[in-house]
Amino acid sequence: MTRPIMDEPTRALRERCDVTILESEFGTPRDELLASVAGMYAVITMLTEKVDAELLRAAGPQLRIVANHAVGFDNVDLEACTAAGVLATNTPDVLTETTADTAWALLMAAGRRIGEGERFLRARKPWIWGPLMMLGQDVHHKTIGIVGFGRIGQALAHRALGFGMRVLYTDAVELPDDVTGPLRAERRELDELLRDADFISIHVNLTPETRHLFGAEQFRRMKRTAVLVNTSRGPVIDEAALAEALRAGEIFAAGLDVFEREPEVHEGLLDLENVVVIPHLGSATVDTRHAMGMLCVENVFAALDGRRPKTLLNPEALER
Ligand code: DGY
Repeated sequence: MTRPIMDEPTRALRERCDVTILESEFGTPRDELLASVAGMYAVITMLTEKVDAELLRAAGPQLRIVANHAVGFDNVDLEACTAAGVLATNTPDVLTETTADTAWALLMAAGRRIGEGERFLRARKPWIWGPLMMLGQDVHHKTIGIVGFGRIGQALAHRALGFGMRVLYTDAVELPDDVTGPLRAERRELDELLRDADFISIHVNLTPETRHLFGAEQFRRMKRTAVLVNTSRGPVIDEAALAEALRAGEIFAAGLDVFEREPEVHEGLLDLENVVVIPHLGSATVDTRHAMGMLCVENVFAALDGRRPKTLLNPEALER
């Protein structure tokens, strides 16, 4: 286990396996990580570790599974896993609602200037209620554009419906009516969505196609009152361009859970009032981290028993 996870999944794992847990607070240096995985049958990895051919080689030919403790798996080279006959799994579903909650919290906080208001009071500045003080953007009855309409995007749409919002989405595929109908979700091309949405929330996987999907050109197409939220992966946004768009008032605000060069956050963003930043907390609740850990353990046991893990990413590896 490359970082400590919740107690119960750790206990469950220890009941059947000898478990090594890497305890380093800021992540284990790569050479130590490679040395630590040697001889393991299963490795539970975090999104902060690159799982590639080098790591698989360092583990050795007995390795059966890499269970990634995240739904995102851009850190895992699936081809390398398959080539090595190693099963790779992630943790979808169990974190859907929690991550949608985080996106919603960022959307509200950025639109209504909650972070700025909090910082203002904590700075102990003199103030009195004023009719023009810290005016934000209404959320209710506005239009939300959801970029990537998978599980988390759809869960966000449910929240938006409760606020009387109109829901637009982009996705590589047209979703069936039984998904979009109850959400009254309308599919748009990205440029149209950028033009029409008051709030835009990103829910795509990080792939070569989605890297810098949002840059200077996209910010120029958005409304000057628009709010952008990202809980997916940082590199989907060109962070320097975002900082500039926010500074120049090309868009109203942003709420960010993820960063292009995590854990680093672009200095230009940290200097701005109209951005809410949190340290990749999308799935960070007690219940969800418990469920993610249990799912990793369930997948590990399945692989060790020769069964198909529940959330297998590379079924081709079963044929090897
Ligand atoms: C994920 O699971 O991919 C999130 O980014 C971390 O919880």
